[in-house]
Formats: sequence, C-alpha cells, structure tokens
Amino acid sequence: MQSILVCSLLAAGAFSAPTPATSPSQKVPLPKRAAFARSTGTLDTTAYLANLNHTIQKYSGKSLRSYGISAKHKRQSAKEALTDQISNGEDELYYGPGSVGAESGFTFDFDTGSADTFIPGPSCGTAQGCVGTVKYGNNGTDEGNTTSITYGSGSVQGENYYDSVTVAGLTAKHQNVISLTQAAGFSSSNANSLMGMGFQAIAASGQPPYFKTLIDQKQVTTQEFSFYLGRAAGEFPAPMIDKSNIKNGTGAKSEMTLGGRDTSKFTGTPVQVAVSTPGYWQIPLDGVKVNAIEDLVDQIADKGQAAIDTGTTIILAPLLAATTIFARIPGAIPVPLALLGGAVEPILYIYPCAMSPNVSITFGGTDFAIDPRDFNLGQLTPDFGTLVGNATLASVLKKTAYCVAAIAAFDIQPAENLYVVGDTFLKNWYSIYSYNAANGSPAVSFAKSVSV
Ligand SMILES: *[C@@H]1O[C@H](CO)[C@@H](O)[C@H](O)[C@H]1NC(C)=O
Ligand SMILES: *[C@@H]1O[C@H](CO)[C@@H](O)[C@H](O)[C@H]1NC(C)=O
Ligand SMILES: *[C@@H]1O[C@H](CO)[C@@H](O)[C@H](O)[C@H]1NC(C)=O
Ligand SMILES: *[C@@H]1O[C@H](CO)[C@@H](O)[C@H](O)[C@H]1NC(C)=O
Ligand SMILES: *[C@@H]1O[C@H](CO)[C@@H](O)[C@H](O)[C@H]1NC(C)=O
Ligand SMILES: *[C@@H]1O[C@H](CO)[C@@H](O)[C@H](O)[C@H]1NC(C)=O
Repeated sequence: MQSILVCSLLAAGAFSAPTPATSPSQKVPLPKRAAFARSTGTLDTTAYLANLNHTIQKYSGKSLRSYGISAKHKRQSAKEALTDQISNGEDELYYGPGSVGAESGFTFDFDTGSADTFIPGPSCGTAQGCVGTVKYGNNGTDEGNTTSITYGSGSVQGENYYDSVTVAGLTAKHQNVISLTQAAGFSSSNANSLMGMGFQAIAASGQPPYFKTLIDQKQVTTQEFSFYLGRAAGEFPAPMIDKSNIKNGTGAKSEMTLGGRDTSKFTGTPVQVAVSTPGYWQIPLDGVKVNAIEDLVDQIADKGQAAIDTGTTIILAPLLAATTIFARIPGAIPVPLALLGGAVEPILYIYPCAMSPNVSITFGGTDFAIDPRDFNLGQLTPDFGTLVGNATLASVLKKTAYCVAAIAAFDIQPAENLYVVGDTFLKNWYSIYSYNAANGSPAVSFAKSVSV
C-alpha cells in the first residue's frame, strides 16, 4: 500500500508545488463516487432515496450534547442479538486505504461530518451491518468500554481499542478505534470502515480523532488536511446538458492530503472562513444565489450555518431557506417524502430539466458556484409520481422532463439554520480544513478545483 502511495505522490509532483507544508504531507488517492444518474440520464431513485435517508439518519439527533449518548456504559457482551441493518445505498462515497495495528485492508470513508474511527470487528458480518471480509482482530489495547450511537431506526455499536492507525504512511499511535459489533450505513461498497475527520467535540467516543492525534504526536507540522473530490462527469450525459460541455471525469483523480494542500489541484488564492463552532467543520453561510441574484427577503431566510461534510453526497438546506431558493427557479416543485418514514418529512425539489440554474453559495462574502452538472441529479421517470403517491405528479412527469435538484430540504438544527454542504459543492471547490489557520483558530478554505 505504501509504495502505491509513494508512486502517486511522485507522479502528482506534490513536492514540487509551493505548498506551505514543510512537514510530511501525504496524499491518499480516493476512488470516485458513483453517480445517481443512469447512463440514460434518468435518476436512480432507489439509490438516491436510500442515500438521502442515510444522510438524515447521520444527522438525526446528533447534537454536540446527545451524539455520544451511551458511551459511558461498561462494555456489554459482544454477542448480543443484533438487528439486520438495511444497506442504505452507501456506495456513494469517496474512500481510501489504511491500516490498524499490523492489519491492512481497511478502506476508509473519510468523513468531515463525524469524528470517530469505525472498523469492522471480528464478529461484525453482513447480518450486523458490516461489509467485506476484512475484520479487525481486536489486537490493540482493550479499553474495556464501548461506544454506541442511536439513530431513529437503529444503532451503531462497537468496542473501544487503542491501536496504531496508519493512512498514507502517517501513523497515529494509541488512537481510539471502535471495533464494530453492529453497524449501519455501510453497504456493499468497498469502504468497510469510516474515518471521522471532524472535531473531538462530536466524537461519540469522546476521544481525539485520527487527525488530531497526528497533530498532537507531531506527525504533521502543517495542521491541515485537504480534499480534491473529482466528478464522474463522463458518466452524466443528462439530456439538458450540452454534450460538448461534458469533459472527461476527474473522479479517478480524487485525493485527500494530510498535513498540507496540493496546489496542483486548485487555482487562485483559497478563501478562508473561520469555523464558528468546532464540532462539524461548521462555518457561517451568508446566503444562496440563483443566477447571481438574491433578494432582500432571501438574505434573511438563506442565512445560516453550514457543516462542510465530505461524507454527505448532496446539500441539505433548511426548509424555509429551500422555499426561497427554489422560488427563484421557475417551475420548481417541492415533493414531500413521506415514504422515508421520519417524523419530519424531507422535501425533494424537482425542476424542469430545460432550466440550468446557476446556484451559488456565499461564504465569507464570496460566491461559490455549483456546476449545473452537479446541481442536476438526473431526470425523473413518471413512476416516481406513483412512488410518492401523487398521481398528478405522475401525469406531469409524463408530459414534462423534470430533474432532481442536489439541494434537498430538511431542518437539521433549526435554531442555527444549519445546512449540510456535501460533495455536490465540494466537487467544484477544493477544500482545506485547518486546525490552526492564520489567526490561530480553525478555518475552512475553498479554492477553485482544477478541471471543473
Ligand atoms: C428510510 O429509513 C426508514 C427508517 O427511518 C426506513 O423505514 C425506510 O424504509 C427507509 N427508506 C428508504 C427508501 O431507504
Ligand atoms: C474508555 O476507556 C478509556 C481508557 O480507560 C478512557 O480513556 C475513556 O474515557 C473511556 N471511555 C468512556 C466513554 O468511558
Ligand atoms: C489479530 O488477532 C487475531 C486473533 O484475534 C489473529 O488471528 C491475527 O493474526 C492477529 N493479527 C495481527 C496482524 O496481529
Ligand atoms: C476523453 O477520454 C478519451 C479516452 O481517454 C479521449 O480519447 C478523449 O479525447 C477525451 N476527451 C476529452 C474531452 O478530454
Ligand atoms: C454563476 O453565478 C456566480 C455568482 O453567484 C458567478 O460568479 C458565476 O460567474 C456564474 N456562472 C455562470 C456560468 O454564469
Ligand atoms: C402532487 O404533485 C403536484 C405537481 O405535479 C403538486 O402541485 C401537488 O402539490 C402534489 N401533491 C402533494 C400532496 O404533494
């Protein structure tokens, strides 16, 4: 594994660029995420809904205070009866390899929206929600306690161990890892593990996340990590998009850099936005524009906070904000998703595929546009109307081509008007997550990704 990474470092010329990192700065190539759109340009509704469901689960009840709810109890038997978790379409993610102790073969979904390291434990099979054949042998130091997270519809449980965790040749020693006994949110994807890249404050285990350990153990001197998330554009021949505008996908070039940034992957000077609350990588969001316009009413409704989340596929906006955003896209229709079964229905927005709205999010006074290829998740087939129990919609979909917007509406934390800004956005903007930005406080920075 390490030799592959070294090759990729040399091939990409990481050290020739004027990166501020004088310390080890290591890159992990990340395989690309699957698109929801079929080759015909229509939306794979099942995959999309399962993914949205999972995102909502991930954020449900996960406030700073309640996330680590049951972490304090002593370890229970690892052999208690477990619920079979439904695989929630979690193949839509970016992942890379890592090792724990002397065992390799773990594939991590690097997730800035959480802060624990989850690996499949020896008894966590498919029936317990884990995937793949690689299992942790519980060879680290047993902490004698467990971590669990309860969602609306299930739970994640595991035993805490201290062990060495290595990604891209950088080892965090005595790192807390959670050896899963029961999992949720994994599927038949290649990622059998999850690496939380958020702050310790939201760690269910209460312990420092991997990257913080690297900082504390002086494995990196530049206290930042960065993501370049490519786009499978070549796999998105949506009918309303001029084919000549579709470049070859950059998905295969996706990468994460630990301890620095890769200046070959972005252009211009990154715009730095201070983190408002270090839990998620949470920053103030000034507003959302459609075709560069935002009226006064919107400026109030749109304003909020954003969790910048590499582990979420799309963007979730608060309900009221979404209403004002989509009011500016002619023909847009809200579709409540009662079928997801939650206490509060998420709302999907669809719009005529003939439109190609230029939607941008404003952070730190700068507008960051989302390419229409990313904003448009694909065209709906008429059976979607039937699926959501709306016969009128079914007949509308027969007459007009409607596409699904990559902004869905759901109130995550209404008090803060919290958005979740995921890969739809991050495919356009190289993102840098700094623990110790210019003013000594954490910040997220964005710069234009190359080849977008
Ligand atoms: C979404 O999750 C709920 C549980 O909260 C489950 O009942 C439902 O079947 C899920 N729907 C989809 C489409 O995955
Ligand atoms: C689990 O045990 C470790 C090691 O003793 C300790 O540091 C940690 O705080 C414990 N976690 C909980 C949730 O009690
Ligand atoms: C880890 O422990 C298992 C038994 O639990 C053992 O079979 C395996 O060889 C160990 N692996 C390493 C790399 O130490
Ligand atoms: C896309 O890739 C193919 C195969 O590598 C190549 O022939 C073609 O020129 C590329 N197109 C663009 C627009 O880069
Ligand atoms: C989209 O809007 C942003 C401002 O919100 C602007 O900077 C950008 O140039 C626009 N893009 C296109 C293609 O019009
Ligand atoms: C059904 O869809 C139509 C649009 O086709 C919409 O106007 C109507 O509000 C929808 N009904 C419900 C109950 O969502």
